[in-house]
Amino acid sequence: EKPRALRIAVIPGDGIGQEVMPEGLACLRAAAARFNLDIELDEQFKDWATCDRYLRTGSMLPEGWKETLAPYDAIYFGAVGMPNLVPDHISLWGSLIQFRREFDQYISLRPCRLMPGIACPLANKKVGDIDFWVVRENTEGEYSSIGGKMFPGTDREVVIQETVMSRIGVDRVLKYAFDLAQSRPKKHLTSATKSNGISITMPYWDERCAEMAKGYQDVSVDKYHIDILTAWFVLRPELFDVVVGSNLFGDILSDLGPACTGSIGVAPSGNINPEGTWPSLFEPVHGSAPDIAGKGIANPVGMIWAGQMMLEHFGYKEAADIMMKAIETALESGGSQVITPDLGGAGTCQSLGGHIANLINKL
Ligand code: NAI
Ligand code: MG
Repeated sequence: EKPRALRIAVIPGDGIGQEVMPEGLACLRAAAARFNLDIELDEQFKDWATCDRYLRTGSMLPEGWKETLAPYDAIYFGAVGMPNLVPDHISLWGSLIQFRREFDQYISLRPCRLMPGIACPLANKKVGDIDFWVVRENTEGEYSSIGGKMFPGTDREVVIQETVMSRIGVDRVLKYAFDLAQSRPKKHLTSATKSNGISITMPYWDERCAEMAKGYQDVSVDKYHIDILTAWFVLRPELFDVVVGSNLFGDILSDLGPACTGSIGVAPSGNINPEGTWPSLFEPVHGSAPDIAGKGIANPVGMIWAGQMMLEHFGYKEAADIMMKAIETALESGGSQVITPDLGGAGTCQSLGGHIANLINKL
């Protein structure tokens, strides 16, 4: 069955977001042309989520942004932030964080995969050894606004911030992670816990996980306390297939996982509203990289891979597989004139992006 037409809002944002986005779009267009996909890439949002816009108008997004974006299936997002022009809390909270919150993107999804042509920071790992997903709960848990401060500025000063876990919130992230595990060859799920120390919410998380597991008899499940889990990420990453964690644990793991596989310029990320009630958002992990912005040397792979994740999310499997293969082939054998400087080459954002787009056409 052919997936329905997709409408994508394209928001390149600041800095290298503006440079990597055209490469991401070229690759998506190549995939769409080759597989005859019905995808609209709407580029009318060129100055949304930019610090330029903030300096000009006093806000990162125009009024009515939510109504405008709501009908789209997804947002294809570059990066935001120009800390020398606008403080980060204003630029990020005025754009990206709004999307994540208002569009109930309760899954944060990141692949941790060792790619060819990238020096792995872990010793003796080869391509294939590290290939797993981190699924993070993205709306509640430890990052709650329940709490407060009493007797500020006195000896009796007290601060409290509560962890909030709802059955709906816990179950929906577990369900997403179990579904993902079930779709993969290894069918293995690892849950991050800390029930030996955090004795109310974490046992609850474990209990819901055990309950969810009953509906997935073909998925093998294990759990680790977060402290030793971080050690296993580094020492034995081949253990993992899908790793699910609460907001805080997932936050840590979703930085550690990709870090174990090399360049920041390569990793993508999805902020997903699985039901499609609201748009999901796909973006590279990296930021706007002001230190290299304007030089044309940003690695476009994170942006392109984010587009690949987007196609996969919406069920365009064939096209997504070819995009992945094109990325891998380019990293493996693109050559030093094509590969960007962050990976040791002398190429440019355009040379690497163009190479991948070509491969999508002909692989
Ligand atoms: P960053 O990810 O922008 O840069 C960190 C380092 O990695 C820099 O040296 C940069 O040159 C390098 N780098 C990043 N992406 C690269 C790429 N594609 N190719 C080659 N090298 C790359 O993080 P940083 O410097 O902490 O933040 C810069 C700005 O970006 C800040 O305003 C920050 O708030 C924002 N930011 C935005 C994010 C987003 O939009 N999702 C995520 C992270 C940071
Ligand atoms: Mg983080």
